[in-house]
Amino acid sequence: MDKLTIRTACEADFASLFEIEQEAFTHPWPLEGFTDFLLPWAWILMFGKKIAGYIFYHGVGDEMVIINFAIRPCYQEMGWGEFLLKESLQKMIANGVRRFYLDVRISNIKARNLYEKFGFRALGTRKNYYTNPDEDAIVMEKQIHD
Ligand SMILES: CC(C)(COP(=O)(O)OP(=O)(O)OC[C@H]1O[C@@H](n2cnc3c(N)ncnc32)[C@H](O)[C@@H]1OP(=O)(O)O)[C@@H](O)C(=O)NCCC(=O)NCCS
Repeated sequence: MDKLTIRTACEADFASLFEIEQEAFTHPWPLEGFTDFLLPWAWILMFGKKIAGYIFYHGVGDEMVIINFAIRPCYQEMGWGEFLLKESLQKMIANGVRRFYLDVRISNIKARNLYEKFGFRALGTRKNYYTNPDEDAIVMEKQIHD
């Protein structure tokens, strides 16, 4: 059985990430969303040699926003999103991050449950933040207390 690992993203991953993005979202990021963001804090979930998902963090100092997070649909609901979130949060915390923020569609119960399981709490909403379909975002926050 191939095992799950995480690693940082590189330029050679862009095509695969874009493919997963289109499968996982109704309003996907354009390719430039990936190529313009060669982020130091972009983590890729590997299943053996296959890319199974990704999570991108963006921010400065001890504050980071999760700006994109997806598991390839054929690998969803098997605990892999939880694995990627847990492993990447641990690495970010080890690098000194103490506050995490994110936006999530109100109807995205799956993601909201996962974030709540990891101690994220709702701070408020952003009206009509999303399109296709139009929808409010819930802003969530997680703080690390030393
Ligand atoms: C949201 C997403 C990243 C979760 O990853 P996943 O691998 O499918 O989720 P996991 O199997 O690791 O499940 C972890 C937790 O998520 C929640 N969850 C998963 N599937 C769920 C479902 N069908 N209904 C409700 N909650 C669910 C649960 O809290 C679950 O924990 P539990 O098994 O102890 O109940 C993934 O489904 C995905 O890529 N969705 C499309 C893109 C997306 O919505 N990204 C997030 C944008 S904010």
